[in-house]
Amino acid sequence: MSAASIPKEYKQIVLHERPARGPITDTTFETKTVPVQQPKEGEVLVKVEYVSVDPTQRGWLDDVKSYLPPVELGAVMRAGGLGRVVVSKDDSLKEGDLVSFYYGWQEYWTGPAKLLQKKIVPEGGKEIDFMGLFGLTGMTAYVGLFEIGKLKDGDHVVISGAAGAVGQIATQIAVAHPNCRVTAIAGSQEKLDYLKKLGAHDVLNYKDKDFKEQFKKTGEINVYFDNVGGEILDLALRQLKPYSRIVACGAISSYNSEKPVPVYNTFSLISMKSTMQGFIVTDHADKFAEGAEYLGKLVKEGKMKADYHVLNGLGSTVSALKEMFDGKNVGKTVVKLSADGQSKL
Ligand SMILES: NC(=O)c1ccc[n+]([C@@H]2O[C@H](COP(=O)([O-])OP(=O)(O)OC[C@H]3O[C@@H](n4cnc5c(N)ncnc54)[C@H](OP(=O)(O)O)[C@@H]3O)[C@@H](O)[C@H]2O)c1
Repeated sequence: MSAASIPKEYKQIVLHERPARGPITDTTFETKTVPVQQPKEGEVLVKVEYVSVDPTQRGWLDDVKSYLPPVELGAVMRAGGLGRVVVSKDDSLKEGDLVSFYYGWQEYWTGPAKLLQKKIVPEGGKEIDFMGLFGLTGMTAYVGLFEIGKLKDGDHVVISGAAGAVGQIATQIAVAHPNCRVTAIAGSQEKLDYLKKLGAHDVLNYKDKDFKEQFKKTGEINVYFDNVGGEILDLALRQLKPYSRIVACGAISSYNSEKPVPVYNTFSLISMKSTMQGFIVTDHADKFAEGAEYLGKLVKEGKMKADYHVLNGLGSTVSALKEMFDGKNVGKTVVKLSADGQSKL
């Protein structure tokens, strides 16, 4: 990118007001136009090419104790991203390098080069996979199933939110694991068809009237990979085999609710001598190289395919976050910022 084509100003999406317990609204965020900051010694200017949209961002808007502090009012919305160095004042990075970081929902970022991770696309690979399969999404599925879920040959693995970002990778890992039987749960027929194509043995729509009966018929569970919490978790608890493992990955059914959906059947953890463990993927960075190698091998063997729900322009971030709670996405949601760096706001 020539210096002449770097704009003087760019757009960012900042937190305007915290939503009450409930969905984000039209006044949760606002768009600001700010001047591009030229980097100082040791810094770089990055043109952000992709930004992430994740359910956990809903939690970052609430002023409550969590694994990260809430996004401050007036601050750029926190989000992972992938971008390209356009000006470098640091020897470790040069113009054109692909770099990832929590740039936030904005078109440009200026800051210390040492914060960034340089990414090199492997032969035959795709840049977008750093936002999904080889990013935190893929690592969540990998760490969740193997480190937390202690996945074993022959396990019956049940995955909720199975057609989403983490769920689609977890489903394919479990399908590829020797002799595992995989039950995948999602919220539409289109998603069930998709999960069948990924190799899931049983697929269930949790919105079906007879979902409870259908779920019961799938039998006892060794590993429940829980992306949604609430009622589905409660049903899974009733079906545990002795020494089973619940991977508490997410609880999207409660992120927009005033009160979390109650879960009653926790006594099963005792009677079935089972574990339920929460985790945050970023605590497991020591497993990421191993995870990327594992997932890369599955890709080469034709057993893993990552899908993306790609939207265009910075302005799509807010609607994408809203729509995630209506299940509009199949695969990992990312927003591609338009080629000239200007959003379609
Ligand atoms: N622990 C960690 O480190 C970590 C890391 C990444 C993500 N997570 C968590 O993992 C979960 C999945 O994240 P993701 O990025 O892969 O999102 P995602 O699955 O791509 O998107 C969310 C999906 O959740 C489903 N959903 C929405 N509301 C629901 C409800 N009330 N009940 C059941 N399903 C509902 C929707 O699909 P349907 O059409 O099927 O309803 C939607 O597409 C989230 O809970 C997230 O917070 C945890």
